[in-house]
This record gives sequence, C-alpha cells and structure tokens, in this order.
Amino acid sequence: MRLSQCYNTQQFRKLAKKQLPSAIFHYIDGGADDEKTLSRNTAAFDRCDLVPNVLTGIDQVDMSTEIAGQKLQLPLFLSPTALQRLFHYEGELAVAKAAKKFGTLFGLSSLGTISIESLGDIPDTPKMFQLYVHKDQAVTWQMIDRCQSANVDVLVLTVDAAVGGNRERDIKTGFTSPIRLTPKSALSFALHPKWLFNYLTKQTFELPQLSGYVDEGSKVALTIADYFTKMLDQSMDWQSAEEIADYWGKPFIIKGIMSVKDAKRAVKMGASAIMISNHGGRQLDGSRSPFDQLAEIMDAVGNDIDVILDGGIQRGTHVLKALSLGAKACSGGRWYLYALAAGGQAGVERALQNMHDEIERGMKLMGVSAINELKPSNLRFRE
Ligand code: LAC
Repeated sequence: MRLSQCYNTQQFRKLAKKQLPSAIFHYIDGGADDEKTLSRNTAAFDRCDLVPNVLTGIDQVDMSTEIAGQKLQLPLFLSPTALQRLFHYEGELAVAKAAKKFGTLFGLSSLGTISIESLGDIPDTPKMFQLYVHKDQAVTWQMIDRCQSANVDVLVLTVDAAVGGNRERDIKTGFTSPIRLTPKSALSFALHPKWLFNYLTKQTFELPQLSGYVDEGSKVALTIADYFTKMLDQSMDWQSAEEIADYWGKPFIIKGIMSVKDAKRAVKMGASAIMISNHGGRQLDGSRSPFDQLAEIMDAVGNDIDVILDGGIQRGTHVLKALSLGAKACSGGRWYLYALAAGGQAGVERALQNMHDEIERGMKLMGVSAINELKPSNLRFRE
C-alpha cells in the first residue's frame, strides 16, 4: 500500500500501521479501557442521515468559517496532539505547513516536539497553542509567557486530563516517552528500519516547551497517562482557568467540555470558543461522544460562543453533520496523524485534500453554498 492509494482515514490508518513500530502506532490508535468511547465517537455520526435539498444552483461553495476570531478556509482543523516527531521525522512543522496550505489551523501541543518559537518559521498563518496546566506553576506560566512573546493568536486550555486515562494498549506495548529499548520494542524497531533510521539520524527527540523544567517525557521515560497523573495539576478549577484567560487576554478556547453546565460556565468566563471533546476517547471511557452532546450544547450556548466539535471525524460528511447542528467547525487528531505517519507533510496534505474535496462535494450535493446554510432540518435522527 502506498500514499497514492489512501483515499480515506481508514486507508491512512492502514499505511500508518505498516510504517510505524507497533507501540507507536497503538499510542496514536488506542483509547482508554474498553475503547467504547473511542469507537462511539465515530459511530455517533451514523445515528443520523443527511437530508439534501436539490436544484439550488450551486456552482460555487464557500467553505470558510470563523472560530475564536480566526478565519479558516475549511471548517475542519488539526487538533493539538503530542509527540509528532515520533510519528514521522518531519513532525509538527510538516503538519503546520500542510494546514497553512489549506488555510486552516494547526494546534501545537505543550507536549509537542517543536518549540513555540519555531511557529514563527511559518509566517502569515494564525498560531494556536495547547496548554496543559502543570503542578509546577512555573512550567505553566513560562509557556504562556513564551506564547505572548511568540505572538501566538489562540490559547487552547485542555481540561479533561487531570489524571491519565487507562490506556491498556500502551501498558501492553510498553510505549513511553521518550521511547525505551526493551527486547520487545527492539524487535518492533528492527522490523521498521526506515523509521528507526530517521529517528536516529534526524533531529533529536525533545519536548522544547518543557526542557529546563521537566525531565519526565524527554529524559525520564513514562507513559503519557502517567505523565498526566504525575505532572498535571489536579486541583485546576474554573478559577485557575479564568486567571489564565485573563492573563492571556487574547482568544481563549477551552478543550474538553462535555456538559451543558460547563458550556454555560465557559460562556460566563468569557471564553472565545469551546471544543466539545472527550480527548479522542483516551481519557474517560464510557463518556458520551461529542456529536451526541452537540445538539443540547448548541441549544444552551450556541448563540453565545463558538462551538467546535472535536473527535471521531473520519469523513467530510461527519463534518457536514456537525455543521448542520450548528458547530462552527470540527477538529480531530487521528485523521491527520495517520496521514503524517503514512507520508509526512505530503501525507497530511493528501488527507487535507481528501477532506477538502469531501466537504466541498458534500455541500454541493446538500444544495448549500455556505456552511451556515446547513441547518438541523438537514439531518434526521433514526430511532
Ligand atoms: C494524549 C495526549 C498527550 O496522548 O493528548 O492523549
């Protein structure tokens, strides 16, 4: 299988599985506990069907949208995700460049493998940074200050990771950051010599947001779930979120909202947007899917805040369904990470092109020329 044979998320996934040492593939692919939420995040889109209108004379469609004051040419963006250099040596810069080509956003993670400052290498594109609040306050505040100095436009605060989810695949494969050489992993690395060659000869793996403060994750190996539990601030509350937002003073998104109550609280504190998200099913298994929660959150706060649907997206039609319920945009991680692993920047560009074409084609077939023409009446839920 080659990149040119990847037409959809599942095919990128297959190629990623072939290219990556298994522990790394399963880190991307896996979820918590029984992975019920992981699979439901995508399955939820099949609970309803699209209802198109015809003869609307659509020769041009405008796919643009705006979230947190940022104009996007595509109603889908690339959620912040960790450790990208492990998935492909081109890492985050490749993802950021691909996103720029399609006029959409890419979020750099606190656990990213390029620095906040290096986002400056990709000029004329909005910069988004994802923040994990650490127990050691100095770690958190230095990241916020660096974002200010580097003219980051949007800060995304992740709020669903105070402790790590039970990611049994990582326990089984022995996946840690940094990766560890064990008899089992050595075999898996040896079976992927191209990956190993690139890992050893290209830019060294590091976590530049944390270096100088935190050895865990870059010098001291541990699972990402253990990193969350050990390093992140479990006492974080709405007041801490508000302090960060006030200090930041620019567009501020809360990622990991699932309840109406919390969505209202985010509006009250003046957040620019919320990402309805369960962290890709990697944290609380049994949690509802973001798509299943979308309608009630839209009813409660849809007129007051930009709502982003994060998670489960594998097709352009998934995006159309979320937009029909009123989401301003969708986002996700795995759909582009599989493509990154499959083919670096070229892979991510191919995945974006596929999604771009699917959304454009879908809008034409739905009979709409702009995303705000998609309405709840374009969806019918099955019993
Ligand atoms: C994850 C984090 C790092 O592994 O977002 O889910």
